[in-house]
Amino acid sequence: MADPRSGRGRSLPRASLAETMGVLSSVVLPVLGKGVLLRRPPVVAMAQRMELDRRAVETVRALRDRHGDGPLVLPVPFHPYALILSPAHVSRVLELSPEPYAAASDEKRSALSHFEPHAVLISDNAARQARRPYNEAVLDTPCPMHRLAARFRAVVEDEAQEMTEAADHFGELDWPGFARAWWRMARRVVLGEGARDDDRVTDLIAKLRADANWAFLMPRRRRLQARFFERLDEHLQRAEPGSLAAIIRATPAAPGTDALGQVPQWLFALDALARATFRTLALLGTHPALRSRAEAEIQAREPQDLPFLRACVLDTLRLWPTTPVILRQATRDVEWEHGLLRRGTGIIIFAPFFHRDETRLPQAHRYAPETWLEGRPEDQGLVPFSDGPARCPGRNISLMLSSMMLAALLRRRPFSPVDADGIQPEDRLPATLSAFELRFRPGPG
Ligand code: HEM
Repeated sequence: MADPRSGRGRSLPRASLAETMGVLSSVVLPVLGKGVLLRRPPVVAMAQRMELDRRAVETVRALRDRHGDGPLVLPVPFHPYALILSPAHVSRVLELSPEPYAAASDEKRSALSHFEPHAVLISDNAARQARRPYNEAVLDTPCPMHRLAARFRAVVEDEAQEMTEAADHFGELDWPGFARAWWRMARRVVLGEGARDDDRVTDLIAKLRADANWAFLMPRRRRLQARFFERLDEHLQRAEPGSLAAIIRATPAAPGTDALGQVPQWLFALDALARATFRTLALLGTHPALRSRAEAEIQAREPQDLPFLRACVLDTLRLWPTTPVILRQATRDVEWEHGLLRRGTGIIIFAPFFHRDETRLPQAHRYAPETWLEGRPEDQGLVPFSDGPARCPGRNISLMLSSMMLAALLRRRPFSPVDADGIQPEDRLPATLSAFELRFRPGPG
């Protein structure tokens, strides 16, 4: 007898043409417009003003209400997509990556190959088998504290001190001031002291990331890419003790790993972490109870890990995920209970739909770090770092660096956000919060 859950012979539910256009215009277009690989601050500000991200979530919710738990096929000509609509299906797709749901989707390959053609994220299965363990080995993926935590903490303290002095001088900490110091920290952590002031290396990757926003519409600038990799390699060759470059030198790499080729993803991702950290600083500035708890934890636990502050960063990422769309692609036909998912179909997990689902989450629109203190929120579709075998291997080092930076700043000054309307505890938090517009008064030391 056939398995009653099997959808053998049936097709998955399909969106109409109008519904598909609705998803393209209100979900996909704003994501592309804001810049997937390098954010465009004016467009992010516009999205915030026009509440585009809120509309995107409402569009997906309406489809779920109409069609049920899906997946819902969007019949885009030549490249159909399946929109994931239930948390259980989020887990299923991510658990079954990279087979039969490849992380290296067509879109990601064409975009990311502008600046990281050999990154694990866009590698085929054979190359992934060498590259994934290598990333995990250098980043100490399972460990809350990286083996170089003590050294990284000293670097963070140093840059937080400079940031604070500049903020005192100008009477304000704004995004350019924060980002400058953050990048000095990031280059020291990844590439060593000799890269501290090498803005050029981060400018080069930024140019390539700007191209990557256009994916296949922009021809690849091979000379620029070569210049970037040469400069990156010079830094890595020094293998300075106390940096990830030294660990790269010391970590045996299986043939086909391409250690150098893994590093651009780390630099790129540290930019997302900067935005998440700055937003967290703003939320702690408007949520005094949470801030007191964070301060008590800093006093009690440093220099150990800071679980509450890490939960604060995670919940900022729930509210405003820096990877709002997680893409997969079916490598073969797969039977689902409601029908057949065809080989080649792109799979869209639109994280904000799950992260802000007020029908399931009482905390949907408020700041709720406690969400991350127990259980596995990933099972409810809360996946800022993705999940399963291709989950972000930089999750722990990210939470470590971000919580270290927040602790270093909060110990020095109150850093009260200016114009913090809309992000108070009683507010329904906005669907977009541009990090680029945030400003803080340092206050007394
Ligand atoms: C705010 C900080 C970060 C967030 C929210 C984040 C999130 C993510 C997500 C969602 C993915 C999966 C993407 C996909 O499947 O399409 C991913 C992959 C990845 N991330 Fe992160 N990431 C962050 C920071 C970092 C950092 C700092 C590093 C390294 C130092 C890093 C290294 C990687 C790598 C190597 C992958 C590819 C994993 C694979 O394909 O197996 N990430 N990240």
